[in-house]
Amino acid sequence: MSSNQCINGARLWQSIMEMAKIDALPGGGCGRLTLTDGDLEARALFNRWCEDAGCTVTYDRLGNMFARREGRELDALPIAIGSHLDTQPHGGKFDGVYGVLAGLEVVRTLNDLGLETDAPIEIVNWTNEEGARFAPAMLCSGVYAGLFDLEFALSREDADGKRFGDELARIGYAGSEPCGAHRFGAFLEAHIEQGPVLERHDEVIGVVTGGQGQRWYDVTVTGRDAHSGSTPMPGRRDALVSAARMIQEVQRIALAYGPDGVGTVGALQVSPNSRNTIPGEVRFTIDFRHPDDALLSGMDNAIRRAALEEQEAWVALDMIWHNPPVKFDEVCIDAIETAAKDIGQPWRRMVSGAGHDACQLARKVPAAMVFVPCRDGLSHNEGEWAEPDHLEAGCNVLLQAALTLSKQMAPVT
Ligand code: GLV
Ligand code: MN
Ligand code: MN
Repeated sequence: MSSNQCINGARLWQSIMEMAKIDALPGGGCGRLTLTDGDLEARALFNRWCEDAGCTVTYDRLGNMFARREGRELDALPIAIGSHLDTQPHGGKFDGVYGVLAGLEVVRTLNDLGLETDAPIEIVNWTNEEGARFAPAMLCSGVYAGLFDLEFALSREDADGKRFGDELARIGYAGSEPCGAHRFGAFLEAHIEQGPVLERHDEVIGVVTGGQGQRWYDVTVTGRDAHSGSTPMPGRRDALVSAARMIQEVQRIALAYGPDGVGTVGALQVSPNSRNTIPGEVRFTIDFRHPDDALLSGMDNAIRRAALEEQEAWVALDMIWHNPPVKFDEVCIDAIETAAKDIGQPWRRMVSGAGHDACQLARKVPAAMVFVPCRDGLSHNEGEWAEPDHLEAGCNVLLQAALTLSKQMAPVT
């Protein structure tokens, strides 16, 4: 790597810390759910930084934001770099934000160096990656890639019954460009690993070759409300007791499909949620993941069998999302791997455990990712932490990979 082609790690760090002030939580994290006032504030800050860096910022029907730095070849499709600015309710400072601001840092560095790329560069902020407020996750990169309809996205509702489309209009980000019309030559995403592999092996760069499959379910368990004091134990229809058995099944199935299978019940609502009423209804979510789609189907069969076998209350499973495993593009992977070798840091090829916008994008455009370690492999936690040097190294890989791909994307004259 030419030594004068390095990003400014201090500037990248400072931008991440500045963004983290929006919807900051007492434990050091961020709770910036999508399409909230905090999301709007984050978008405004990102927009201002991009315009200050000379980019033109546009957004589409779903509020996906594109900040464009022109290239030499006006006909070349842009190299897009990005991720998301929304967070989990108890999220950290880095998940998603790093990928967006690493894209910005690449553009700022190109400006500092006075470098004109062949293909344009676009920094992207995808709306609702987390899926914490509006399920499923990666909703708007999913529409972009043709995996969901626009109407499906606009009609998603949060826990209070607020519609995605209304909330998008409320914050002023319902654009006119059709989602998916914005074309890219390639998409690159930098992200913290959100798992322990790089840290355990003392490696700095993950060259990500794909993402594992996911199945998400909404589960409704229907029993019967009844008095907690006067109803004998035999004959009760306690929805929470049935839900508890199902939750244990999720755990048992994930372990049976280990070491790669994982299963989580992350949200649960008990009705009527009163100390002295036997719960008549429980709703909860299941998140199953596996890198092998056939084994993920096996997990699906197993949980359906458990639902049928549950006696005390009626268990209805609604699989709201099946996202098969995805493989990234070899040319993009090579560009990242070559850059990782050039910066001289230990690296490995790996599959992503988390879902990412790049996993959706890869179904439509050449895409790949670069990972950097995070402390204790911890993410979706306020204590999420990444070392400045690692973030800098990942961003340098991104810069070099983008420069390589930019040359390849330019039309041959
Ligand atoms: C996104 O953060 C996911 O992997 O669920
Ligand atoms: Mn993320
Ligand atoms: Mn996340």
